[in-house]
Amino acid sequence: AFKKSKNLQDVFSRLITIVSQGYFQPNTGGDSIPEAEGEMSDLVGDEPLFKALYNMFLDSGGVFRLSFGPKCFIVVSDPLAVRHILKDNPNNFDKGVLAEILKPIMGKGLIPADLETWKVRRKAVIPGFHKAYLDCMVDLFARCTERTVEKMEGVCEQENRTLDMETEFLNVALDIIGLGIFNYDFGSVNKESPVIKSVYGVLKEAEHRSTTYIPYWNLPLADVFVPRQREFKKDIGIINDVLDELILVAQQTQQEEDMEALQNRDYKNVKDPSLLRFLVDMRGEDSTAKQLRDDLMTMLIAGHETTGAVLTWALHCLVQNPDEMALVMEEIDRVLGDRRPTFEDIKEMKRVRMVIAESLRLYPQPPILIRRALGDDTLPGGIGGDPDGYSIGKGTDLFISVWNLHRSPQIWKDADEFRPSRFDEAIDPIGPWGGYDGKNSGLYPNESAYNFAYLPFGGGPRKCLGDQFALMEAVIALAMMLRRFEFSTKAGFEPGMKTGATIHTANGLFMDISRRELEGTEDVQGVKQMVAK
Ligand code: HEM
Repeated sequence: AFKKSKNLQDVFSRLITIVSQGYFQPNTGGDSIPEAEGEMSDLVGDEPLFKALYNMFLDSGGVFRLSFGPKCFIVVSDPLAVRHILKDNPNNFDKGVLAEILKPIMGKGLIPADLETWKVRRKAVIPGFHKAYLDCMVDLFARCTERTVEKMEGVCEQENRTLDMETEFLNVALDIIGLGIFNYDFGSVNKESPVIKSVYGVLKEAEHRSTTYIPYWNLPLADVFVPRQREFKKDIGIINDVLDELILVAQQTQQEEDMEALQNRDYKNVKDPSLLRFLVDMRGEDSTAKQLRDDLMTMLIAGHETTGAVLTWALHCLVQNPDEMALVMEEIDRVLGDRRPTFEDIKEMKRVRMVIAESLRLYPQPPILIRRALGDDTLPGGIGGDPDGYSIGKGTDLFISVWNLHRSPQIWKDADEFRPSRFDEAIDPIGPWGGYDGKNSGLYPNESAYNFAYLPFGGGPRKCLGDQFALMEAVIALAMMLRRFEFSTKAGFEPGMKTGATIHTANGLFMDISRRELEGTEDVQGVKQMVAK
């Protein structure tokens, strides 16, 4: 039986090698780059792709090449080489394979957009994430989290007090992104609907595509004959209809008073504070433009799963590390108590912010960034690499492994350990990398402070534009839940890991929850008073 399965594996790997020829670019120079031992088929096992690449990184260094047949791609895990691609020479790279995968879903939205489209759209969208908008979002994050807290209160009344927290985090993140970006209440914490089903269907398809080396969806009539493609076509149609309708309504319901309030950044008097309202009212976006819909769709997908995943792994890490859990709870009780959180509280809850930052180091979302060189270039050799660097040709496909960067034993002490306080410690500069510059002053330790060894939200001009939004959302959701509940897992439970666009658990994040016995609060029972406040 073993021999038979081995033969099957060989046939499968050969098939993959042949078909993927059409997908990645031809070998385009880079002959001096160290070649990793391995085959494309090594990457198609039970193990997530980024884990297979980690072992190769340990053997082959911060810049290595993986060839299959006449094609290859370069895996970059070195801070200097990454800084070159993302920040020093970003105009020489586009999203390559990723853009091809995401085009049917996000069109020319910000993530897959080519450089020309991206320049115009980034300029149009970024002013929407201004301070007054983010301040207003803090309240929204809290209100949406209260729904989950309320649901958890109900679960605490039941005999079976086990809940899949990964699902709950994804639901709260979906409700927040819907309301914050286009004022649509998915209400997914408490119900299921065809639209929610379609959002998850499209997400699943996006993930399936990013982990499948055979672009079968490009085959003629695939959306007629392949059942999952038929399903995908239906799902994307449902979401597009909702978005088109929301854009139209936003334009038809423009109100003078709202325009004035928006103009003055007076969000207390704005009925609909969503980003869409800002784009339509303040930037005069054309409601018929497919581009606006593509950008909304991009933000729906980019801002939902990522935040859900960060919360999932943060809770997992805390439950595995009771000392860290105790420290973080002490901070939440001291700073927040039962108040609805404010922006000032987020600033005060430094330990919660560091927990989110450390979770993003150990479980970066996404674990791999994808680029394709638009012209010939030279990548820095980086730590332990060739000091003259490595030349690459036009068309080279690059995988930036954020997972490898964040777990590099050359950079991080006890790289696999969950230790949020590491962001308060100085790191010794190693070799040409240059290390931590000590300017860790914002809401989270960013890529500049760590000279591109730490990339929680990417870096350079294509850095995440929802970074503050996401960080604040995660801090509030986590703090409000930890204030009310204790979490534990059954002995021996392992969430496991699965990769798509983000890192998921393989088995869910099943937690037993119970109400905390809170000293100094009359409302030990729970949420009612908190909601009233
Ligand atoms: C881009 C991470 C939340 C919107 C990115 C990139 C990363 C990232 C790493 C860079 C991708 C690349 O260079 O290839 C995250 C994480 C989040 C998060 C970890 C949550 C914890 C959000 C939210 C939004 C958002 C809430 C929207 C409100 C975007 C957009 C881009 C992007 C539009 C493309 C930016 C551009 O190309 O100009 N994100 N993101 N993200 N993210 Fe996020």
